[in-house]
Amino acid sequence: MKACLKRITAALILLLLLCGCTEKIPAETEAPVIVPPGPGETLPLPETRIPETAASVTEPPATEPPETEPPAEIIPTFKADLSAYEIYMAPADRDGYLLLVNKTHPIDADSVPADLVYLPQEYAVYSGEWRARMTSVAAGAYTAMLTELSANGYTDVKATLAYRSYATQSYLYNNYIAEEMAKNPALSKEEARAIVETYSAPPGTSEHQTGLCTDMHNVYNRPDLELEDFEKTDAYLWLRDNCWKFGFILRFPRGKEEITGYQFECWHFRFVGRYHAKRIFDSGLCLEEYLEKLQKN
Ligand code: DAL
Ligand code: ZN
Repeated sequence: MKACLKRITAALILLLLLCGCTEKIPAETEAPVIVPPGPGETLPLPETRIPETAASVTEPPATEPPETEPPAEIIPTFKADLSAYEIYMAPADRDGYLLLVNKTHPIDADSVPADLVYLPQEYAVYSGEWRARMTSVAAGAYTAMLTELSANGYTDVKATLAYRSYATQSYLYNNYIAEEMAKNPALSKEEARAIVETYSAPPGTSEHQTGLCTDMHNVYNRPDLELEDFEKTDAYLWLRDNCWKFGFILRFPRGKEEITGYQFECWHFRFVGRYHAKRIFDSGLCLEEYLEKLQKN
């Protein structure tokens, strides 16, 4: 059968050659049949196909430099095995955690993150319904950061409050106003409010409502110490220098009060993902400045 097909094909090719027909015959899977030319005939030269590897050698050099892939982000080395947490520290949705909430960028009163999870109890001060919660990716990154912090010998840092609802923020804010007025009865409510707003966000403007940040320190059982004393501890220094590896930034740095609207808070860490956290850390910019720069580029 095959031999018969070959003879028919050969006859067809010969007929087409004799007719000078240029229409192409679909390629066969079998090896092509060579038909000897008749007297005085020459076979058309086969198309010379240059192997692909040879073509790239003979091509003229490109005038434009070839596009290069951006260098891969370096994964920091850790004492603990945090490989399972890499998806949280450096999430695939690289830009998905840059949400800006501040006095000029409010958040809806009824906005509640869909995926809040409790932080591990060993890294959270309160239990029950007051146990700190963050959105799931930020919670994974927080767990990694605290695991590594412990592996470096700092075992007493824990989260106090992370996610706060609009109602909780309202309660805290109004309580602070009452406290300021009790401390200094000469203050008007507006004066007290102005003082409070250097350290507590008016309800609807706190990034605590996003579930992307947490307050954390090691002075929660120390009535003799202020929150600010955390800054003097080695655990704080470690966090200050290493938090970016886990995707966190110090959200209210010293020297940026005019831009963030708040005093320096050594206890407030915000998750943005490692890619941006590293760039914010290296640049010394605060989140507001960094986002403005990103928009301009
Ligand atoms: N302490 C920060 C500014 C807040 O209340 O959100
Ligand atoms: Zn805070």
